Amino acid sequence: MSSPQRTVLIDTDTASDDAVALIMALRSPQIHVAAITVVAGNVPVEQATRNALVTVELCGADVPVYTGAAKPLQRELEPATWFHGMDGLGDCGYAPTHRISEPTHAVDAIIATALRHPGLELITLGPLTNIAQAIQREPRIVDNISRCVVMGGAPCCEGNVTPAAEFNIWVDPEAARIVMLSGLPIELVGWQLSRYDAVLNEHDIDQVLAIGTPLAEFVIRCNGRAREAYFEQTGEHGISLPDPIAMALLLEPALAVEASDHYVEIETVSPLTRGMTVVDRLDVTADSRNATVWKTAHAQNKAKVIWKLDVPGWKRLLMTTLAASK
Ligand code: RIB
Ligand code: CA
Repeated sequence: MSSPQRTVLIDTDTASDDAVALIMALRSPQIHVAAITVVAGNVPVEQATRNALVTVELCGADVPVYTGAAKPLQRELEPATWFHGMDGLGDCGYAPTHRISEPTHAVDAIIATALRHPGLELITLGPLTNIAQAIQREPRIVDNISRCVVMGGAPCCEGNVTPAAEFNIWVDPEAARIVMLSGLPIELVGWQLSRYDAVLNEHDIDQVLAIGTPLAEFVIRCNGRAREAYFEQTGEHGISLPDPIAMALLLEPALAVEASDHYVEIETVSPLTRGMTVVDRLDVTADSRNATVWKTAHAQNKAKVIWKLDVPGWKRLLMTTLAASK
């Protein structure tokens, strides 16, 4: 008897790295993707929805796509088109041919899916606006979600949008704080895990292209602008893939070779540190002598912060997934 399939919901602001994460999920035999919900982030939500539909179509998958929040809870949307291209997929002209999104709003879809699937695994690849609204509207979903893998944050390190903050958290810090303090079982996959040796280097890129399928070619081509932008941003060469790394950690938790549980707070007031993921790595909160140092209505539970990734394992999973799509 095959093991019961794991049911997953993916919330995404679908741009070029999100698309690769969607491919990994849609091609995985380990999980059943119940829904893809879309949020404004990298690009406006209508464009992100089109990008999700393109990706589902490329995979030949039959998964519903729902459009969600068009802007953060309290702020205006500040997209990342400079990084991913105006259309989010490297401005290569990709467009869905026949698939359309569902009429139901993404927040309603998140609630319905969580209530229908106790034990649901949730992964977020964009700003947390949809998730925050779903929790506020139906708090019961928290108890039904067995894992919440969040691609976001810069735990005890530099951000990619400001020195303090990573994009997904920075775009909607109020939503991120609601989610972080909600009691959801958060696994925090920070941007730093997608840097340095985790980046697809020239050899990795050649290995993907050598697979020779339209899907493999799409992975590299839609990330062409992101590759240039990543060099402009960091001076590092290659394709950085934060969302696929978060997806790899959802699919294979053992790829997290170093992780620990900590209270995590989100800065929502200071313009200087807006969106900062403040991680109590030394657990000072637990020390009554420090009670005055870090007063916060911190989470009902701690988040699992991933500090170290099995990089060869991550790349092996990506290559295996793409090769299997032959
Ligand atoms: O900071 C990286 C994150 O922001 C990724 O999810 C990328 O797609 C953008 O949404
Ligand atoms: Ca994303």
